[in-house]
Amino acid sequence: MIVILDFGSQYTQLIARRLRELEIYAEILPFNAPLDGILGKKPHGIILSGGPASVHKAGSPKISPELLEAGIPVLGICYGMQLLVHMHGGRVAPAKRREYGHAEVQVTTDDPLFDGIPKSWKVWMSHGDGAESLGNGFKVIAKTDGAPFAAIADAEHRWYGVQFHPEVAHTDKGARMRENFARKICLFKERWTMSGELDQSVRRLREQVGDGKVVCALSGGVDSSVAAALLFRAIGRNLHCVFVDHGLGREGDVERMAALAKSVQAQVPGAKFNLKLVDASKLFLRKLAGVSDPERKRKIIGKTFIEVFDKEAKAIRGVEFLAQGTLYPDVIESVSVHGPSAVIKSHHNVGGLPKRMKLRLVEPLRFLFKDEVRRLGREMGLPEPILGAHPFPGPGLAIRVLGAITQPRLDIARKADAIVQDEFRRAGWYDKVWQAFAVLLPVKSVGVMGDERTHQPVVALRVVESVDGMTADWTRLPYDLVHKISSRITSEVRGVNRVVFDVSSKPPSTIEWE
Ligand code: XMP
Repeated sequence: MIVILDFGSQYTQLIARRLRELEIYAEILPFNAPLDGILGKKPHGIILSGGPASVHKAGSPKISPELLEAGIPVLGICYGMQLLVHMHGGRVAPAKRREYGHAEVQVTTDDPLFDGIPKSWKVWMSHGDGAESLGNGFKVIAKTDGAPFAAIADAEHRWYGVQFHPEVAHTDKGARMRENFARKICLFKERWTMSGELDQSVRRLREQVGDGKVVCALSGGVDSSVAAALLFRAIGRNLHCVFVDHGLGREGDVERMAALAKSVQAQVPGAKFNLKLVDASKLFLRKLAGVSDPERKRKIIGKTFIEVFDKEAKAIRGVEFLAQGTLYPDVIESVSVHGPSAVIKSHHNVGGLPKRMKLRLVEPLRFLFKDEVRRLGREMGLPEPILGAHPFPGPGLAIRVLGAITQPRLDIARKADAIVQDEFRRAGWYDKVWQAFAVLLPVKSVGVMGDERTHQPVVALRVVESVDGMTADWTRLPYDLVHKISSRITSEVRGVNRVVFDVSSKPPSTIEWE
């Protein structure tokens, strides 16, 4: 594999994903991971990421010189390159001209890093510091107008540095460069494919779990579905899945769960897929009665979920493990020293479950990014409506029915939401947006129906585009689609006489209304 040492760049995860897209397996470790830990991974190559620090300042993050002596090729990107220069006696200082944005790079020396790349091409720069002189052994291999040392190499040691960012899409030949580094310089031959990953995950799970029993909560979302399918492949009937129906889900949830069960069952035809559906909708409704505060709603739902699930898990004799859909970004965030690439909101995960249940954790997805989880699901043939579904919050419609939750209000929100989903799929817009949904507002407005005046609640249509949910922009939908959705909601959902369209971005708004 290629190990990426993280110096806190916003692009660190992107470097890993972009390598994996080229079938080059990469993992991320914090820059100050112990030397044994790094070498223990037996990396073919090491990438030093960018980062916000300045190498010439005291206390800036460094690596141990022994790491460089291990005979492993190294590529430093931005801060990583400056660190290489600094460690070899070169000089790094605030650049005379800060470069941010496109730059034209000129290759000055033939080097395997640039195989198949023209002599001049466009790259993405984003740096305040720059190298002013190179240390022992390094030579310039490319330059730009603003950066005389845009790319450098110590070919003998196979140490490389680039001031620009080969991982971002704006760098034209970035893919070819990443591939050159891994394949031609690190001589990394293996191909990381989804079918290989599938076999390996199954093997890993078998090793970890042996013939122990695992309990897994299914939510209907991508992560828990793929985790369950993997576990079922690995351990068959020793997997016990529980679907707690909190009654706050979308229309068709139970049918989707049945389709999922069928396709998971198909993974290992001989073994029985244990799935228990628990209808706890009345309990949740009772606990939520009269509660309007969004955070209290979330807490009640989390706590009630744990109570119900815990009871079900205890009923499984001899269960030792709890499956959790932890993804690779969560793993990186939790070990990262500088953390901050993309902080995932903590309220999104149901906390407290493992501690209370005294079970050991199994995390079948802990090395995968979200898009890889989807691809793995496709590799196993899981239903596309589950794999391609928009994110849906754990507390479900409870945070889309603003104010107090009652069965009739939930029904209105569910019907309106079903119309939104249906129209988005029909119009071919479903896959073009991050999320599209209806929100039931705690506001009534006056309307007219036939000859009668009405005084009924308002539904808001919320549609956003986003890359990771951290920021979002409202989608400029065709008016015809907005019109279709609005007229279907007001005519088909009894008790709604007005639909409004949300034109706010995140920030300052959030995607959900509560
Ligand atoms: P916000 O509203 O914070 O949402 O902009 C960002 C993303 O997170 C989802 N979301 C949640 N997911 N539990 C979840 O599992 C929650 O309590 C929750 N709140 C928001 C939201 O749908 C969006 O994709």
